[in-house]
Amino acid sequence: MNLKIAPSILSADFARIGEEVESLERCGADIVHCDVMDGVFVPNITFGMPVVKAVRKHTALPLDVHLMIISPEKYIGAFIDSGADFISFHTAATEKTGEIIDAIKERGVKAGIALNPDIPLSSVEKYIEKLDMLLIMSVYAGFGGQKFIPDCLNKVKEAVKLKERLNKDLIIEIDGGVNLQNIAEIEAAGVNIAVVGSCVFGAADRGECIAKLKDGGQRRIF
Ligand code: DX5
Ligand code: ZN
Repeated sequence: MNLKIAPSILSADFARIGEEVESLERCGADIVHCDVMDGVFVPNITFGMPVVKAVRKHTALPLDVHLMIISPEKYIGAFIDSGADFISFHTAATEKTGEIIDAIKERGVKAGIALNPDIPLSSVEKYIEKLDMLLIMSVYAGFGGQKFIPDCLNKVKEAVKLKERLNKDLIIEIDGGVNLQNIAEIEAAGVNIAVVGSCVFGAADRGECIAKLKDGGQRRIF
């Protein structure tokens, strides 16, 4: 599978969200990543279902909804109704991980578990077989524009081994601090989808930035 790029609209201009999303599609994005934060699970508040629903109207690209909220089980149905194609949630935010995965998959949506840098992979190993995606955070969830934590690549390599053993279709996604300098190493570690916020939205030419990310940052670290 080629590396897919999922720009995060956290770094978009929210007053022009429709145009921003359309521009991502024109610029070669594969997926649109929507960061939902509740100010409780993480110390930041972003947006909820109405914005996901609005974004849905402006693109045919898959919507990847990353829930950083407590008790995500309460909102799964509402985010699916709003147009989510992927839903990831943090296991640290709920005691109903197994039920949530089932509820997402029953509706034909892809289910993901998100792990902050301090949450070990071993804590979710039992869910790997039924999961569609593992979202490995390479910063602590909460804000865009943070610095990539390199140790997370070891977690990616561990996840690749679990994938080979338990679920060959598992999608490995990385989120936080991804840029043109580290993308080649990220891809080489076995990541399938890279979420990219500030690097894409801060670029003078978003299309060129996404093309370079897909090309491993033009392999500049090797
Ligand atoms: C952080 C979010 C990320 C973030 C990525 O909590 O989950 O998706 O927006 O932004 P950058 O690429 O700027 O780290
Ligand atoms: Zn995210």
